[in-house]
Amino acid sequence: ALIYFITPTYPRREQVAELTRLGQTLMHVPRLHWIVADDRPDCSQQTMNLLPDFGIPYTYIASPMPAIYKRATDAIPRGVSNRRAAINWIRLNHNIDDTKAVIYFGDDDNTFHLDLFKEIRTTKKISMFPVGLVGEYAISSPIVEKGKVVGFFDSWPAKRKFPVDMAGFAINVQLLFKYPYATMPYKAGFEEDRFLSALSIQLEDIEPKAENCTRILVWHTQTAKKPKPTVMVRSKAALPGSLATLLD
Ligand code: UGA
Ligand code: MN
Repeated sequence: ALIYFITPTYPRREQVAELTRLGQTLMHVPRLHWIVADDRPDCSQQTMNLLPDFGIPYTYIASPMPAIYKRATDAIPRGVSNRRAAINWIRLNHNIDDTKAVIYFGDDDNTFHLDLFKEIRTTKKISMFPVGLVGEYAISSPIVEKGKVVGFFDSWPAKRKFPVDMAGFAINVQLLFKYPYATMPYKAGFEEDRFLSALSIQLEDIEPKAENCTRILVWHTQTAKKPKPTVMVRSKAALPGSLATLLD
């Protein structure tokens, strides 16, 4: 089966570094289509220049977070507008008769073991597996008994039916066509739960992967932000444009 690997990303100093590291992981994965979905109004020249370097099939699309959510005083729904655009791209471009493709949401800052791709490729409906370095407990994982998922271990249950991380599940593409209106909500913290509920997922449907959820094959790593300079950078004009963007 083909893997659609959806990466929400957004413009910031760290973006090129994150996409370079991720692209160089995905280079090792056969039969993968990378959908890079940028949180901005249009595609950037910088990213358009970078993506061909990895020699893998990709689609680059842009879809900005609506302004009303950016103004939110509490948590903002990160990566939702762009993940939605990627979901819709698949609905429009995937051959509905090819029932074998699998969809996975891989953030631009996470770390992926190559074995993860072998695990998710066989997803019939929905598969789940542990994610490392999530929240206070540092592990978010389905709890498996006798080969069946019976519950979840997560630092933030929050009355969610599926207290899982975005990186902790993969779905078969058929679900997008079976539930053509299902999408991800603009509700920070509840993106995974509401998306899976919209796809009518039940506990019995979940296929535990990674040796019955005993191995961590993906980590929710985070890159420390470089603060913007507090004083005006006088000699910026002397830098070539490609370097000067790091100062923005
Ligand atoms: C962060 C925090 O560490 C969590 O504590 C918090 O719960 C979470 O955000 C949240 O507010 O939802 P993380 O999921 O690692 O966790 O957030 P990011 O990596 O910044 O964003 C997730 C994905 O969305 C990334 O692929 C990122 O590139 C993308 N993103 C982020 C956007 O597309 N737009 C944004 O404005 C921010
Ligand atoms: Mn992250």
